[in-house]
Amino acid sequence: MSTTHLGRIFHVAGRPSVSEADAALVWLPDGALVLDDAGMIVYCGPRDRRPGVDDPDEAILDHGDAYLIPGFVDAHIHFPQTYSVDAYGGGQLLEWLDNCIFPAEARLADPEFAARIARDFTARRIAAGTTAAMVFGSAFPHAQDALFTETRRAGLRLVSGRGIQTVGGPSAAPLITSEQHAVDLTADEINRWHGTDSDDPDTALTYAAIVPRFSLSVTVDTLAALGDLYADVRDRGVYVHTHLNENNRPGTGEIDLVKRGFGVESYLHTYDGMFLPGGKVGGKGLLGRRTIMAHAVHCTDDELARMADTGTSIAHCPVSQLFLGSGTMPWRRTVAAGVTVAAGTDVGAGDEWLISRVLSDAFKVHLSEPGDDSVAMHPAEMLFTGTLAGARALDQEHRFGNFDVGKEADFLVIQPDRWMPLEAALAHGIRADDEIRARDQTLFTLLMALREPAIAEVYVQGRRIEAPL
Ligand code: GUN
Ligand code: ZN
Repeated sequence: MSTTHLGRIFHVAGRPSVSEADAALVWLPDGALVLDDAGMIVYCGPRDRRPGVDDPDEAILDHGDAYLIPGFVDAHIHFPQTYSVDAYGGGQLLEWLDNCIFPAEARLADPEFAARIARDFTARRIAAGTTAAMVFGSAFPHAQDALFTETRRAGLRLVSGRGIQTVGGPSAAPLITSEQHAVDLTADEINRWHGTDSDDPDTALTYAAIVPRFSLSVTVDTLAALGDLYADVRDRGVYVHTHLNENNRPGTGEIDLVKRGFGVESYLHTYDGMFLPGGKVGGKGLLGRRTIMAHAVHCTDDELARMADTGTSIAHCPVSQLFLGSGTMPWRRTVAAGVTVAAGTDVGAGDEWLISRVLSDAFKVHLSEPGDDSVAMHPAEMLFTGTLAGARALDQEHRFGNFDVGKEADFLVIQPDRWMPLEAALAHGIRADDEIRARDQTLFTLLMALREPAIAEVYVQGRRIEAPL
């Protein structure tokens, strides 16, 4: 039996690039989304033309004036930082890590605390409509077990791996392991959690990743060992996740410390096997279609080209970049390089859980870029970046991210009347006479004014997701 959801539908159809999103935007004010028993989309279109329109036994969920949009994909979020949003570190990235984050993440050593934070993290994801996420994990395997267990219980999509640190200052000490132990724990996590929620890993919801925190948290020996590990598990579809080119404070910031510490000209080289002084090859690389680099604010053209060539994606996190004074990723130059750019909250440096809040800040910071770099993102580009681009960055675009027939139905039901400012802006905001312009204005308002209370229902593979008790 099929199930029909009726509502006002927005999605970006097909497999467009970000600059083609405008042409690929679908708007169905009287839309129907029809799912089969397995939660696959069998129809998305006008409601009066749906299959089963004349079937008296059709199972219908009429969402009235609600909007149906694809579930949000968060390409970079830190699970151990669930309670660390708006933490005052008295400085930029490295001070904030030392003063706030490493001590907060060390608290997950306590299994009870870890279980609680996994529950709360999962609940926040559901409230924010984040149906799929690349989740930067905890150093502690029991905390990762709790995260995977909670996520599977809820029925959400997840990619995650324990955060690997093999060097660091005193505040990071509780998170640091030996190099061999780091590799063993990561290999064990992959074996236990990568795609194991399904007989066929290609249909699973939860996957594992290799996650070196950033180059400053690891040694050349760690990078070599992780390169070897990745060479062994790449074919199984394992992911890689880390940070790149985030803080460029001259002399004492992350990027200069990486370049000085490793003796390299390019930060990306440390993840690309060329981590020995002078960019000499020291081992195997970590780039590829299942690799996501968080931030990539200050990349060279060569670094962007290399990411595009290898299919490595960027998690763009402007809320976090504002919070930590990390600067603005140049939008035009980055997308022109052909790299997939998806949206990431970067909770806790990002203090918003909703991907649409990230898209809102993206709109603002890119409009504020200097001179000819200033760009007004099209609302379809914003929706694309928060949904289909995330699925692409996760190399699962064939499964979710929009409402194309044959995909698994991950979607949100947004009820404007649950959040008065959204309802009012949608009802009374200015709309152009031109139909297309008016459509774009409606989508823009929906994304900019959306807040958690308006997300009434969340679906993954056609199944309604309930918040954990
Ligand atoms: N670089 C290394 N660790 C972190 C982290 O936890 N958050 C951010 N924003 N950047 C990092
Ligand atoms: Zn981060």
